[in-house]
Amino acid sequence: MAQTIGIPKETYAGEKRVATVPDIVEKLIKLGFAVTVESGAGDGASFYDDAFAKAGAKIAGSAAQLWASSDIVFKVRAPDTAEVALMKPGMTLISFIWPAQNPDLMKALAAREVTVLAMDAVPRLLSRAQKMDALTSMAGISGYRAVIEAANAFGRFFNGQITAAGKVPPAKVFVAGAGVAGLAAIGTSVGLGAIVRANDTRAEVADQVKSMGADFIKVDYEEEGSGGGGYAKVMSEGFQKAQREMYAKQAKDVDIIITTALIPGKPAPKLITAEMVASMRPGSVIVDMAGEQGGNCELTEPGKAVVRNGVTIIGYTDLASRLSKQSSTLYATNLLRLTEELCKAKDGRIVVNMEDDAIRGFTVIKDGDVTWPPPPLKLPAPPAAKPAAAPVVKPEEKKGSGTGMAVVALVGAALFALIGLYAPAAFIGHFTVFVLAVFVGYMVVWNVTPALHTPLMSVTNAISSIITIGALIQIAPQVPDGTVRPDDLIRWIAIAGIALTSINMFGGFAVTRRMLMMFRK
Ligand code: NAI
Repeated sequence: MAQTIGIPKETYAGEKRVATVPDIVEKLIKLGFAVTVESGAGDGASFYDDAFAKAGAKIAGSAAQLWASSDIVFKVRAPDTAEVALMKPGMTLISFIWPAQNPDLMKALAAREVTVLAMDAVPRLLSRAQKMDALTSMAGISGYRAVIEAANAFGRFFNGQITAAGKVPPAKVFVAGAGVAGLAAIGTSVGLGAIVRANDTRAEVADQVKSMGADFIKVDYEEEGSGGGGYAKVMSEGFQKAQREMYAKQAKDVDIIITTALIPGKPAPKLITAEMVASMRPGSVIVDMAGEQGGNCELTEPGKAVVRNGVTIIGYTDLASRLSKQSSTLYATNLLRLTEELCKAKDGRIVVNMEDDAIRGFTVIKDGDVTWPPPPLKLPAPPAAKPAAAPVVKPEEKKGSGTGMAVVALVGAALFALIGLYAPAAFIGHFTVFVLAVFVGYMVVWNVTPALHTPLMSVTNAISSIITIGALIQIAPQVPDGTVRPDDLIRWIAIAGIALTSINMFGGFAVTRRMLMMFRK
């Protein structure tokens, strides 16, 4: 029999998100499930009961009714004590849980003999899990909203302007920590026209920052900040000192600082000191996105916006909820993707397969047994870090590949000679041009940055319109030796050919130009 997915109204004070939206309800029903939504659950995100009912959901009058009628419950925030008390043995809860931070909740849930999948425990390094990665979708929204909050508290434009009333310089934004949220904040600030700089302890982030149109500001101290799994580690004292000096300089220069720096399982690193705040110009804004983990700024008050020395310090911890319609929609999609993984048979019943790495990663309690933390993922060994052995192996590799190339060249030449001996002269001419074209094409594409491959394809398409020369030759009423062409039909086909290739040619170049403009700043 089909299982029922229940969507309760979030009980956490001020939480406006809801765990599913009407469009997704339809898709869950197509997977074979029944869906029940608590009355008013979507009000905070502008998804009202009638829209849920129209999508095929039943509306439950109270939380008690909802929990009693559900086999699976989707939630945003971890359940509170009253909600845990409503859970029935054997049911499945899918929600943010934060098991490391909430040991008491984990015990209480296990005692109810339920199965719990934690959306914060997504195995992010598995590419199959990316579509279910609610941490990323929520962090992206929060990064965007952080900039909007900063713009709201900031008394000036973000972009520079020259008006009759005077010249306005662009705002300068500094982003500390360029993970998912930081990159979203960079993208939004650049989009609004600000001058954006960013810093992160993980070296690989520098290119991502630059590709978003911001400058990466390096700390003048050599130390790799990667702590494994794409996350940061606690840096040495020496690094922290050098970083503070650089941040102090930035604080004096910029108008807005957005901090997102986190280290898994550790309090947020303190990056912005009280003196740095005091050195900022009055009217400046700091948005500290790490408020919940203690904050990156010494003066942050989590959940509040305060003004210190004329600087507004925003420590809101509900940035994603402030964009509730968007965040509910993305979260609902992450949950739908997870449900699809859990219900491969599309028969309205979930199977929590502990042999599946992705599902195992999410599952923190299975039928009352705590299964968190999961065993380490068996990922293919990372290609980096090949110390001592590398210099020894490299020359041999080169030798091998050089011999290989020579063999390929020899075989190619022999084949060419063979064809030359037997094929007609015209064929050899065409064949030589073909081989050279392949070689030149290969060399050109090989040397183009992968990000530019799409515009390259587009311009190649435009260049292929060179076939128009064929049509141009056919359109002339006479051939070069003076003979008049007998066939009007061929000329009309040539005219049509020229018209069509022109569309390809001009359109191709125009599209390429537009694509390249996206890379220009
Ligand atoms: P996060 O929220 O834990 O940290 C935010 C950022 O703060 C990180 O970039 C971190 O390096 C930086 N940071 C920490 N300490 C700092 C310090 N003292 N000074 C300056 N910066 C500091 O990380 P988030 O955003 O959740 O993810 C981080 C990374 O995880 C991503 O950039 C990506 O590389 C990886 N990731 C991989 C995914 C995948 O492979 N599917 C999906 C999502 C994230």
